[in-house]
Amino acid sequence: MDIRAIESRYASGVYPKRDLVLVRGEGVYVWDEEGRCYLDATGGQGVALLGHNPPAVRAALQEQMDRLMICPEIFYNDRRAQLLEALQSILPGGRAWRIFLCNSGAEAVEAAIKFARWRTGRAEIIAARRAFHGRTMGALSATWNPTYRQPFEPLVPGFRHIPFNDIAALEVAVGPQTAAVILEPVQGEGGVWPADPAFLRAAREQCDHHGALLIFDEVQTGFGRTGRWFAAEHYGVLPDLIAMGKGMAGGFPIGATAFPADWGPLPAGAHGSTFGGNPMACVAALAVIETLHRERLIERAARLGALFQDRLHRIRSPLVREIRGLGLMVGVALRARATPILRRLMAEGVLALPAGPDVIRFLPPLIIEPEHLEQIAAALERALAEAPALVPQMEGGEG
Ligand SMILES: Cc1ncc(COP(=O)(O)O)c(C=O)c1O
Repeated sequence: MDIRAIESRYASGVYPKRDLVLVRGEGVYVWDEEGRCYLDATGGQGVALLGHNPPAVRAALQEQMDRLMICPEIFYNDRRAQLLEALQSILPGGRAWRIFLCNSGAEAVEAAIKFARWRTGRAEIIAARRAFHGRTMGALSATWNPTYRQPFEPLVPGFRHIPFNDIAALEVAVGPQTAAVILEPVQGEGGVWPADPAFLRAAREQCDHHGALLIFDEVQTGFGRTGRWFAAEHYGVLPDLIAMGKGMAGGFPIGATAFPADWGPLPAGAHGSTFGGNPMACVAALAVIETLHRERLIERAARLGALFQDRLHRIRSPLVREIRGLGLMVGVALRARATPILRRLMAEGVLALPAGPDVIRFLPPLIIEPEHLEQIAAALERALAEAPALVPQMEGGEG
């Protein structure tokens, strides 16, 4: 079977593909069809918080498969109830939350936008430049990158973008017409840019002042990635809505949107999803939460993230512009295009992600060991040392 040929012929084509057929995974490693092993610092695009095929998630799914696989939210379910309680115990702010369960990050953002419009009766949503919130029409309207947006215009009306970390722009933009401000506390796909604490505080103040809502998109930053359950906790800023997804169920598709319980329940029929809150996703998410607690992986993400950033700072290469990040969400901003370096890393047995044209992004599993991080850093060091021959230098660039 020529896997590449079949996918190239029949798949949608919307993904830029790497020349790699992955067939197996375990822990921080994945294997290709020829048995070659790779250290997965993409973490399955930030999903594999517990690594690949984590035993706790596998066991939970296997057990649930024998009990009940399908249970839409028009019925009550034991596992869903357990998950809602578990989410309540980890969500920030010590306040009571209600939670809408869905199947992906973009869906979680869609729900947040709808709920904010419903709650305020207003239409305007302020988002940030470089933001990435997903690719469905509502989420895409909040996403900034014109390449993703333009072919699909007109998008949902009422969205505006302001420069990230620009308090003055925020003060001008937010007003009595604003339903919500939506922000990633650490911009991921836009280049791994942690927010300035003052910017998030100002967003909270402006929203409070004008009766608007603050949405944090924690799809990439949530569930321990940054060294706290939610990145909001680093900043001491409590949003009104939180969108979650990616690693929440350790590889099983899930998304969630939390809003304050004191809103009361949303009107029946205001939103919905056939697969939302299905028991398989719920047990997988429960297993993730339990494992993150039991194995103290979040503290570990904070500790190892700092260690990794220190190590990356020791790379002596004129191509490194800046190291940015929080916990195990780390970006290396280059004075060069990221793609050739990513290819070089792959040849070294390390998989990493781009974040914009000139940033290499690492989203490794939180179970990663210091020696794996050393392996990644050493591979990057070698890739950069060979880079002048590999990549044309870029003048200027972002950041
Ligand atoms: C911050 C953020 N929001 C939303 C999304 C969209 O999530 P999904 O691809 O699951 O729809 C992503 C995906 O990368 C993301 O990083």
